[in-house]
Amino acid sequence: MNDLIEKLVTTYGPSGFEGNVRDIIRAEIEAYADNITTDPMGNLIVHKKGDGSGLKVMIAAHMDEIGVMVTHITDKGYLRFTNIGGVGARTLSGNRVLFENGTIGVVYGDRNTNATAVSGLDKHYIDVGATSKADCPVGVGDAAVFQRDFFAQGTRLTSKAMDDRIGCVVAIETLKRLAATGTPHEVYFVFSTQEEVGVRGAQTAANALTPDVGIALDVTLTGDMHEGVEMAVELGAGAAIKAKDAGMISHVGLVRLMKKRAAEANIAHQIEVLAGGTTDARAMQIAGPGSAAGCISIPCRYVHSQSETVDSRDVEACIALLTEVLRQEMPL
Ligand code: CO
Ligand code: ZN
Repeated sequence: MNDLIEKLVTTYGPSGFEGNVRDIIRAEIEAYADNITTDPMGNLIVHKKGDGSGLKVMIAAHMDEIGVMVTHITDKGYLRFTNIGGVGARTLSGNRVLFENGTIGVVYGDRNTNATAVSGLDKHYIDVGATSKADCPVGVGDAAVFQRDFFAQGTRLTSKAMDDRIGCVVAIETLKRLAATGTPHEVYFVFSTQEEVGVRGAQTAANALTPDVGIALDVTLTGDMHEGVEMAVELGAGAAIKAKDAGMISHVGLVRLMKKRAAEANIAHQIEVLAGGTTDARAMQIAGPGSAAGCISIPCRYVHSQSETVDSRDVEACIALLTEVLRQEMPL
């Protein structure tokens, strides 16, 4: 599975520019799907048919990653930029960004008289080796993502864009297993767009599908970082079943069912309460007439940095839990 993870996390796909990621996922799942469509927002919608006795279930994992977009080019060929999604100023200086045309830029901060202070994004620039506006290989409106290799060290997997390509991997692997086990439900795996800028792709997809149940697959923070946030989720302790985040309270019956299925199948799991942030589950919960929404989260350290770190045992637990939930009846 690490090969698929590496392929997905190293692919260029900032919010609004998910095409390359979509192509890889489509090729990966084609043999296991009953129907595949792409909607105007760019969502990849993959239908796995049920036996007619179950519910309509939407699974959402977002294809997009955070990035930057060029706003202005100085006379000397330096690029000013704005953020696409939650980019922290602390993650910038000395790092590199990759544009769709292959151009790589070095990010650095303007001179700061306070050497230990971190300036805002507007006081940073990208150096793509140009010396003037005229010889700049990229232009205003072009988007870039962070450039960083994938590496595996024991069970720990580190890369940029684990948020949320690792959720896409959980969806892909679950679809493959369901193709073998069968499911009573009409399952729509939605590989969504523009989550990082406000869960936009999942919103239109959920409005169109009007599912009975919506389950998002996304990363969550952990409470086990050095001097980090106080939170009950730990890396390596299993699939995180979301109870609440800043945008949603999970459907209580769905949370109960996830815990039950995890216990029955001996799948390591933990309960997640995330103080900030939200996921595609929020969009699914309040789309159309509403749905019973929840989220299976992959614990992740250093979210929205270039070294987002997950544990392969947690990834496996998330796949196992989603498969158990989907292959059986869903009494909510
Ligand atoms: Co994110
Ligand atoms: Zn995410």
